[in-house]
Amino acid sequence: MLATAAIILAAGQGTRMRSRLPKVLHPLAGRPILGHVLDAVGRAGIEHRVVVVGHGAEEIEAFLAGAPSVRQEPQLGTADAVRVGLDRVPTSVRQVLVTVGDAPLIPAELFEALVREQADGEAAIALLTADVADPTGYGRIVRDERGDARAIVEDVDADLETRGIAEINVGTYCFDAAWLRANVGDVPSSPKGEFYLTDLVAPAIAAGRRVRVLRAPDAELAMGINDRVQLAIAERLMRRAIAERHMRAGVTITDPLTTYIDAGVEIGQDARIEPWTVLKGGTVIGQDAVIGPNAQVLDSRIGPRSVVWASIIEESEVAEDVEIGPYSHLRPGCRIGPRCRIGNFAELKKSQVGAGTQQHHFSYLGDAEVGEDVNVGAGAVTANFDGVNKHTTVIGSGAFIGVDTTLRAPLTIGPGARTGAGAVVTRDVPAGKTVVGMPARNIELRRGRRTPVGAAESAQGADPGGTGNLNSHTGGGAPSPDA
Ligand code: UD1
Ligand code: CA
Repeated sequence: MLATAAIILAAGQGTRMRSRLPKVLHPLAGRPILGHVLDAVGRAGIEHRVVVVGHGAEEIEAFLAGAPSVRQEPQLGTADAVRVGLDRVPTSVRQVLVTVGDAPLIPAELFEALVREQADGEAAIALLTADVADPTGYGRIVRDERGDARAIVEDVDADLETRGIAEINVGTYCFDAAWLRANVGDVPSSPKGEFYLTDLVAPAIAAGRRVRVLRAPDAELAMGINDRVQLAIAERLMRRAIAERHMRAGVTITDPLTTYIDAGVEIGQDARIEPWTVLKGGTVIGQDAVIGPNAQVLDSRIGPRSVVWASIIEESEVAEDVEIGPYSHLRPGCRIGPRCRIGNFAELKKSQVGAGTQQHHFSYLGDAEVGEDVNVGAGAVTANFDGVNKHTTVIGSGAFIGVDTTLRAPLTIGPGARTGAGAVVTRDVPAGKTVVGMPARNIELRRGRRTPVGAAESAQGADPGGTGNLNSHTGGGAPSPDA
C-alpha cells in the first residue's frame, strides 16, 4: 500500500516568463525547473508523483518521458487541478502532497516535515507557509489561537490589516487523502468561475478538522518562479547549495561565486575547482583533478589527477593524469588516453588519442584514431573534410608528426612513421617510414644521420621545406632507420 502520493501542479500559463517555452521547463542549474521539483519530492520518499499539465502539455509530457501526468483542460484553478490529478492517484493512498511545479528550491526535508505535520495532527490539511519581506500578490495566513490556520485570504480579497500579514501561503499542502477526495469537488466557484484550493480551509474547519501550519525556516527556499528575474535569483541560490554540497563532500571550490556547477555534475574527493569554471550537464570529475581557472566542461568525464586549464571540453572522455590547456578545445566525441598532453590552442573533434600522446600548438585532429606515445607537432592538421564527406586519419603508436604537417584523410600513418616539417601527406605511410615534401614521399634515412639518402630525387625540386628537416621539438634525435 502506498502511504503518500504527490500531485504537482503545472498546468498554468506562466505568462510573466514571456516565453514560448513552458515555465516549468526553463533550465535551472542545467535541469528543467520541474525536474528539480520531481527530484526533491522523490527524495522525500514519495514515489507516486502525478504532474497536472495544460499549457504546453506536449512539451512537458515529452520531458516527463512516460512518468505519470494528466491533462487539465480547461484550467479552472488550483482546486480543479487537484481534482483532475486525484484521478491518477490510487485510492489506497492515505496522504496527498500537493505542490507547484515552479517552486524548485523546496528541499526534500520540508516535504517530509509537512507530511509528518499532517499525520501527527490528524489534520485535514497541513500547509507550508513562509514569512516574506513583500507578501504582495500572495495568499495571507490568518491563524487561530492554537496556531492553526483559520483562513487563507487571497491578496485581492484582503483588507488593509490582512495585507499587513507577512506570512504567506507557499502553495504546498499535505492533505488527508480521503478527506480531500470527498471535498475537493465541492469547492465553490469563484467570481471568475474558477475553483481555488485555498477554499478548502473553510469546510475543513466547519467539519471540525484541523488545518495545521508549517512555516519554512528559510523563506527563500519556498519561492516560486514567476518571471526571469526570479529565475536568476533561484539560479544563484541553487548554485550556492550545489557548491556547498560538493565542498562538504570534500571538493575544494576556490571561489563559489564564480563557479557554475550544474545539478547533475559529480566531482571526486580532493578535486579542486578554480575560479571562472563552468561544469555542465552530466559531467564527472575524478579525484584530485584540477579544473580551471577558466575551464568549461560539458557532459564530459575527466579522470583522476587530470588538469584542465582554460579550455573547453564537450561530450568527451579524458583519462587520468592528462594535462589539457591552456586554450584547447575538445569538441564532441573525443577519448583521450592516460598521461596525454593536449597543449596550447589544440583542437580535437571525434578523435581517439592513445596513452602518452602529445599534441601541442595550434594543431587540429578531426576524426582521427591516434595510437600511444605519438607526437603531433605544432601546426599539424588532419584535412578530414573533402567538402562532402568526413574521413578518418589513423596514426600508429610512436609516430612522429612533424610541424605543419597536413594529413589528407582518409589516411594511415603506420606505427613509428615520421613526417617532415611542412609535409603534405596524401598517401598511407608504412610503419617506420619517413615522408617529406608536398606531396610527401618516402625517403630512406641512414643510421645516425638526419640527411636523407637521395633526398634530391625524392624531393623532385618541388619541395621547398621538406628535405628531411624532421623538426623535433621533443628532442631532435635522429629518426630511426626504417625498422
Ligand atoms: C496560489 C495560491 C496563493 C499562494 C500562491 C503561491 C490559490 C487560490 N492561491 O495563488 O494563496 O500564495 O499560489 O504562489 O491557490 N495551476 C494549475 N491549474 C490551474 C491553475 C493553476 O495547474 O487551473 C497551477 C499553476 O501552474 C501554478 C499553481 O497551480 O503552478 C498555482 O497557480 P497560480 O495561478 O500561480 O496561483 P496564484 O494565483 O499564484
Ligand atoms: Ca503563482
